[in-house]
Amino acid sequence: MLKKIGVTVWFTGLSGAGKTTISQVIETELCVQGYQVEVLDGDIVRENLSKGLGFSKEDRDENIRRIAFVANLLTRNGVIVLVPVISPYRETRQQIRQQIGNFVEVYVNAPLEVCEQRDVKGLYKMFRDGKIKNFTGIDAPYEPSLNPEVECRTNLETPEVSADKVIAKLISLGYIYSSVCKV
Ligand code: ADX
Repeated sequence: MLKKIGVTVWFTGLSGAGKTTISQVIETELCVQGYQVEVLDGDIVRENLSKGLGFSKEDRDENIRRIAFVANLLTRNGVIVLVPVISPYRETRQQIRQQIGNFVEVYVNAPLEVCEQRDVKGLYKMFRDGKIKNFTGIDAPYEPSLNPEVECRTNLETPEVSADKVIAKLISLGYIYSSVCKV
């Protein structure tokens, strides 16, 4: 039996950049290969583990701290943990990298205008209509990754190509063994 090495794959980027979409493609591919995979999605976590938290720096950091705690436990137990959360603060991401150790940062990069044009959840419109505040990338900061293990340019590549880049990186780092990527 293969030795299972856990890892946290942390997807950071603006709302609408494609973090969830890419992690879903990866989840499907890795599950087919028999890997134990768990997804901690920002939108879902905020409905339970982080219910009641808002979007101030303090609340976002608390949200990330809780997610990192769970991700760390799962990683220690050999799970591949996919974490699509905005996580806008570079220093916070750096701290959880240290905490978890087996950590791969994926910068899901799309220009703000593209994310706003997609507006899958209608939140950019809500912001422009003055209904919500502290929106990441507009009136709240987003600090781009400087040295991510992988950068996905989602306005230039498909979710499948982005997913394969991440999977290729996981193979080259020794976290997964069989070649499930097509690039
Ligand atoms: S984080 O900043 O704390 O990492 P997280 O990824 O958990 O954010 O949650 C972001 C999700 O909350 C977005 O995908 C979006 O659907 C929703 N959301 C609601 N209000 C905001 C806001 N002001 N800024 C960013 N995202 C928001």
